[in-house]
Amino acid sequence: MSAILDIQDVTVEYSTGGTIVRALDGASLAVRAGETVGLVGESGSGKSTLGSLVGRLLPGNARYPEGRVFVDGHDVLQLGVKELRTLRREQLGFIPQDPISALDPTMRIGRQLELALRGLPNDRAALVGHLERVRMREPERVLRLFPHEISGGMAQRIVIAMTMARSPRILIADEPTAALDSNVRSEVTKLVFGLARDAGTTVLWLSHDLRSVGRWCGRVAVMYAGRVVEDGPAEQVLGSPTHPYTVALAAADPAGVQPGERIETSSVDVAALAASFRDEEEVVAR
Ligand SMILES: Nc1ncnc2c1ncn2[C@@H]1O[C@H](COP(=O)(O)OP(=O)(O)O)[C@@H](O)[C@H]1O
Ligand SMILES: [Mg+2]
Repeated sequence: MSAILDIQDVTVEYSTGGTIVRALDGASLAVRAGETVGLVGESGSGKSTLGSLVGRLLPGNARYPEGRVFVDGHDVLQLGVKELRTLRREQLGFIPQDPISALDPTMRIGRQLELALRGLPNDRAALVGHLERVRMREPERVLRLFPHEISGGMAQRIVIAMTMARSPRILIADEPTAALDSNVRSEVTKLVFGLARDAGTTVLWLSHDLRSVGRWCGRVAVMYAGRVVEDGPAEQVLGSPTHPYTVALAAADPAGVQPGERIETSSVDVAALAASFRDEEEVVAR
């Protein structure tokens, strides 16, 4: 199998005030181009850490002593700063759980979108076109607003527009609807998968909403305690789970997290992610 994303036996540790937390403990996952993979698992199982690792976007207290990550053959954990930036810009797209944190509070939406599109057509008509692709109402007006003037759903559409404008080869969406009102969740989910399908983008969809995963993902990988413990076609994994944890997960309320629920710790270097939407030169690469 030729994988566009190949995560091999990765260990990630966070150090916090003298304590070491092993967030990934020999996690492996290989994904072929064009697949839609739902990465599920309870809070704290390591989904966000795995997703962020693909772009080497882990916070500064993370270490990865073991394992390798390949994106389209590039050895991500070994890349130089410049190559890493190029890889993020040209191949990867990230949609975080909290879209507001990916936007600059001091800059109008239009300016941020313009910067995110550097190297691509980014005149007024192009910006409006990108907002229309994510079904934003009154795009002209929205371009003049600041992030604090828009709703979470609008912010997530803007982040999706910025991310998908570059037609990334791999999209990592980290519970992108968990912080949104339930009435916009399915629409945003549909939007992401529709844009990804049109662009031929491979999707890694991190979620604990099994219903959306079952509906949109062809394959499901289940994480438990820092490892992928079950992996296969969605109908098989969700329909007749074998690992005891997956059985429990499938039996639990599939509605998942409540609106507004957040992870306690951030497994994403938010500053680096935000910078990748603004000015590539600002991206701090580790
Ligand atoms: N920045 C961080 N500092 C310390 N520990 C962290 C950090 N981010 C995540 N962790 C810990 O790593 C483990 C995996 O977290 P995470 O990858 O966020 O899981 P999930 O996305 O599945 O909820 C958890 O025990 C979590 O508390
Ligand atoms: Mg998470």
